[in-house]
Amino acid sequence: MSTTRDEVLASLRALLGEGAVVVEPHELERYEKGWRYGRGKALAAVRPSSTEEVSRLLRHASAAGLRVVAQGGNTGLVGASTPDGSGEMLVLSLERLSRTVEVDPVDRTVTADGGVLLSTLDAALAGHGLLFPIDLGADPSIGGMVATNTGGTRLLRYGDVRQNLLGLEVVLADGTVLDLMRPLRKNNTGFDARQLFVGTSGAFGVVTKAVMRVVPRPVQRVTALVGVSSGAAVLGLLARLETQLGEVLTAFEAIGAAALAPVFRHQPRLRDPFGGRPPAYTVLVELSSTLDPSRLALDDLLESALGEQLEAADGGEMTDVFPGKPSELWEIRHGVSESLRQEGEVLAFDISVPRSSMAAFVDAARETVAAGWPFVRFCDYGHWGDGGVHVNLVWKPEDAPRPTAELKAELQPRLYDLAVNRFRGSYSAEHGVGPHNQAFYDLYTPELVREVCRLLKARLDPAGLLGTVRLG
Ligand code: LAC
Ligand code: ZN
Repeated sequence: MSTTRDEVLASLRALLGEGAVVVEPHELERYEKGWRYGRGKALAAVRPSSTEEVSRLLRHASAAGLRVVAQGGNTGLVGASTPDGSGEMLVLSLERLSRTVEVDPVDRTVTADGGVLLSTLDAALAGHGLLFPIDLGADPSIGGMVATNTGGTRLLRYGDVRQNLLGLEVVLADGTVLDLMRPLRKNNTGFDARQLFVGTSGAFGVVTKAVMRVVPRPVQRVTALVGVSSGAAVLGLLARLETQLGEVLTAFEAIGAAALAPVFRHQPRLRDPFGGRPPAYTVLVELSSTLDPSRLALDDLLESALGEQLEAADGGEMTDVFPGKPSELWEIRHGVSESLRQEGEVLAFDISVPRSSMAAFVDAARETVAAGWPFVRFCDYGHWGDGGVHVNLVWKPEDAPRPTAELKAELQPRLYDLAVNRFRGSYSAEHGVGPHNQAFYDLYTPELVREVCRLLKARLDPAGLLGTVRLG
């Protein structure tokens, strides 16, 4: 850069106002550091509060050759919302772009600014008896969710962000505002340009507004934990419950024994129904309905369905059934990842395979790790209802023969190869692409797809100023 840092900051302040530009190291830190992973060094964080301001900022950044990374709730897990280590990138925080939340009960849509948080959206929709059906363990922003195409725990019933997205407004690197905001459920008019910006980590533009499809809010929810003796039996239970329960089945999450035990070690307020002896898999089954309990008694339905399964499972495949309050059982599920982190080093994977291969994949992965890295604990949990599994490899640094970075470089290629090549799976099921998995994106993405991405990038962001991921 030919201009000095002070000149750049002065021009940003002139453009958007004093309060929009954050430079003090102690204030800047939270924009430089990811929620769980990722830490860089930013030139400044800039906080525009309207689409027009985002446009002005990007036009200026393009002219000045400043690189920009957009940041929403900063809850991503692949390092795509934090700056690199150069100290030259601007963080474009969407936190002040969060004024619009418009619910349309007749269209059954919600229109929200890119920086609106999931929790804010949910509160606004609750008042109308509506629900944005993406349920996550964190509180991301709308823009970040579009850029990541997040999935979450109810994908089984409602799909991911892509499937619930109707309209989109995006600002391109040169400041052009692309308006794709028609809130239509049907629109078969050729190439769907919105999809360029879904799951592409901000590489093609910054999402400033979206229209999402919303659904009637369930008025009742019931949950149970089910003890199951093997991965194959988990798949059997899933198939039977889907047949038996149809659309009221809204979540089917499975937690392996090694992933469950730490939850009760580190979250003492949570009650362990298994008394310290977890089964091979604990399945969290959730049913929900928009019908009142007087019309459809979900608790009876769950009890009878699981009772029948327990009777039919003659080989001891189902060990226990514990109905419980949804808030308590979800707390157990959402406590897994945090609890594992308290057990030592964690190498986390976000893998998906075809649902039918879940048990075979997890068994093969477990054997691979046990054979080559016997000091590693294999902990798996995740969204078995939609073929997603978070394998977390955990070890105590004092037991490890080599440093973490070396072990990571050995283990990641092995497990990803197993998932992608042997099981036709994905190395990133729901957390998206970013610097943390860029090497695997490069390895597994077909060359023609990368070539198309290069062409798109050349048109939409020719100087390569947006984001930290390279799709081409
Ligand atoms: C979960 C996050 C890690 O499912 O995606 O808990
Ligand atoms: Zn997940």
